[in-house]
Amino acid sequence: MKQTRRDVLRMGATLGLGTLVPGTIRAAATDPTLLTARVADVQLAPANYPLTQIWGYDGQMPGTLIRVQQGDRIARRFVNELPQASSVHWHGLRIDNAMDGVAGLTQDAVPPGGTFDYDFTADDAGTYWYHAHNRSMEQVARGLYGALIVDEAEAADIDRDEILILDDWRLDPETAQLDTDFDTPHDRSHAGRLGNFVATNGSPETELPVKPNERLRLRLINASNAKIFQLALSGLEGWVMAYDGMPLDVPEKVEGPFLLAPGQRIDLFADVTAATDEVAHLVRIDDEEAVSQAAFPVGSSESSASKRNTPTPLPPNPNMSVPDVDTARRFDLKMEGGAMGGLQSAKLDGKTMNFSELAAVNQFWSFNGIVGMDDTPLAQLSSGETARVSIQNDTVFPHAMHLHGMHFREVLKDGKLGPLRDTLLVFRGETREIAFVAGKPGKWLFHCHMLAHAAAGMATWISVT
Ligand code: C2O
Ligand code: CU
Repeated sequence: MKQTRRDVLRMGATLGLGTLVPGTIRAAATDPTLLTARVADVQLAPANYPLTQIWGYDGQMPGTLIRVQQGDRIARRFVNELPQASSVHWHGLRIDNAMDGVAGLTQDAVPPGGTFDYDFTADDAGTYWYHAHNRSMEQVARGLYGALIVDEAEAADIDRDEILILDDWRLDPETAQLDTDFDTPHDRSHAGRLGNFVATNGSPETELPVKPNERLRLRLINASNAKIFQLALSGLEGWVMAYDGMPLDVPEKVEGPFLLAPGQRIDLFADVTAATDEVAHLVRIDDEEAVSQAAFPVGSSESSASKRNTPTPLPPNPNMSVPDVDTARRFDLKMEGGAMGGLQSAKLDGKTMNFSELAAVNQFWSFNGIVGMDDTPLAQLSSGETARVSIQNDTVFPHAMHLHGMHFREVLKDGKLGPLRDTLLVFRGETREIAFVAGKPGKWLFHCHMLAHAAAGMATWISVT
């Protein structure tokens, strides 16, 4: 079975639908008080390939679905059965800092054989996810993530609710085993760890049968280390209902391809416009090539739903104060470094080092001249205070900046505020400004979600007291 790299890249596109494993995520029968990280073998590549060894929550890919009603408590004892220390971060949830799961900042990493009790309330409805937050560029690449869905008190008017977690894996084209070289200087200094095989819900292609006119709620999650997905809908009429869990005041019609950066989520309502016996798709556009990432074969019209009106917005989440940008304190974050970035020198652990000295210790990026975390936060805020951070990308790569514990709004060029988000994609050469109201007290990480970048210097933190 000699496969070229290109064959692996095309696997999703060329497979017959009959061989596919349906990729719907359903809650599995695991102990709902535990979340166990362990090594597992799963059929990640198509069926004619061997199983792939991953690290998964409860041994699953994706990890166990955690789904609660808004306002419910989530209490899980994290059990670490991995050969490496780990921790769990609940990406996008506004919870107490002690539960945020950042090893080295909000808690100690849980050693192999150890446990940690996570316990918090899911105050915000929406699409979130959880993932490992110790050596994330390795542990997330190995599969340590899952969806975390918080359902609105009042169910939305839809026919089906589907979670689609996208990840691009770097697999050996013959053995389907994971490339376990997680520290390559090239990944860390360029675009991050990119894969050669994109899976949806841990499957080469996901097939979800639908009926004509059905309204689907598609919850898209980008769990990849570094891949910016360019996606489009075919045979579906869509609206963006929420970004990063937070509902839009006015749903946005999907008019063309859209981007989903690492860490980001999009909730779509998508009405099936394809007819019986046709197949609608979530399409990924890569190098001008369209690849199906999820197929929705349309069944008989006898059971068709009736065509709906334009969706009304989802209910807003509670206590989202609007940032007062005029009185806000201002901060600057200048990103520098990376390959072809021209970074001369920066401070690592208080010591000024030139670029080749930094490269020698596998560090490549700086925020305001500082490589990685040090004792000084980017901003020291009191709870309730508004901050504006101007993010200047002085590198030749895009970066997906994620703020823990708080959602922000972009301050747009016309002075208007963009939608609430927790992860913002900033392209090379761009300067983009965000504003947010400081939330719960604690140390909140602010980093690039291209995880190799975070590991190679792109991380800082915000202190809230
Ligand atoms: Cu989803 Cu600090 O990350
Ligand atoms: Cu980055």
